[in-house]
Amino acid sequence: TMDAKARLREMNKLSANYFYYLLHSKRGQKGLAYLKNRGITDETIKRFGLGYADIYNDDLYRFLKSKGYSDEELKDSALVTIDERRGGSDKFWNRVMFPIMDVNNRVIGFGGRVMGDGSPKYLNSKETTLFDKSRNLYGLNFARSSRKKEIILCEGYMDVISMHQAGFTNAVAALGTAFTSGHGTLLKRYTENVILSFDSDEAGQRAILRAIPILKEAGLTVRVLNLKPYKDPDEFIKGLGREALEERISHATSSFMFQIQVAAGRYDQNDPEEKTKFQHEAAKLLSTIEERLERKNYIDAVSREYYIDAKDLEELVNYYGTSG
Ligand code: GTP
Ligand code: MN
Ligand code: MN
Ligand code: MN
Ligand code: MN
Repeated sequence: TMDAKARLREMNKLSANYFYYLLHSKRGQKGLAYLKNRGITDETIKRFGLGYADIYNDDLYRFLKSKGYSDEELKDSALVTIDERRGGSDKFWNRVMFPIMDVNNRVIGFGGRVMGDGSPKYLNSKETTLFDKSRNLYGLNFARSSRKKEIILCEGYMDVISMHQAGFTNAVAALGTAFTSGHGTLLKRYTENVILSFDSDEAGQRAILRAIPILKEAGLTVRVLNLKPYKDPDEFIKGLGREALEERISHATSSFMFQIQVAAGRYDQNDPEEKTKFQHEAAKLLSTIEERLERKNYIDAVSREYYIDAKDLEELVNYYGTSG
């Protein structure tokens, strides 16, 4: 019912306030030190409502019980698990806490990180009647009003937080889940342009290749950020600073050339046989570009970049069939 949902909202908000309070109390010193050590300022902690879950595994449970919530309600919040024998225990303990907000700034769930090494590194709330993972993006409540011409899509909480702290208030992330068409549709409500800024490791690069068709399907123009030699936006900003990132953003690669680059990386361009295979693969990709002039421009770009005769490439593209 609406009433149950309202109480669930209130419970999430109370929990976020409780974690935030703990972070600033004596009990939360370890959490505050962890965040400070990662370069997060007081202002950022406040803006994102960061918090701390204490070492006891029934701390939040007791707090919420004292506020009058029933075990049934607590179970539905996904913040607590209830065991017949052992009673209530918290999902999150001994972690720094990241409240997840919807576009209207309402807390709908949490992420929690271990302080230091440990597994799992992050825990995320399970879905509830409030929290639909494929219809929410971390940071979108701020990014929606950032007045930038694009939204920057990152992998993690810390990336979004570092980006915002450095002035890139248009950064968001999909949380505890792969990027879905629901996320694509959501983004399209707020922007025409997305810059993919996933991690530069293999997992991140593979995730970019999966996200590109989803974003394009939603009608968005997609570019890809190169963060090398750093692993993610958070580490890039720490290493090279905001101006260097601004520079990389202005040179972000079109999603098409990124796909070509990945294909090129799989072949030895100095080996004639492998180079031929790459040319076939590039031609197949080029043949999917529907608009004639755009296709021609990309044929030119690919032939220049990879030293292929443009006429040869065009012939090969036509062989694979074009639609426009
Ligand atoms: P830091 O180490 O704190 O800088 O985190 P990161 O964001 O760089 O971590 P990583 O690139 O490994 O992961 C990106 C995002 O995936 C995180 O922000 C989480 O949302 C999620 N994630 C990472 N590790 C785990 C995990 O162990 N379990 C779950 N459920 N999600 C994870
Ligand atoms: Mn990981
Ligand atoms: Mn990663
Ligand atoms: Mn990181
Ligand atoms: Mn990362």
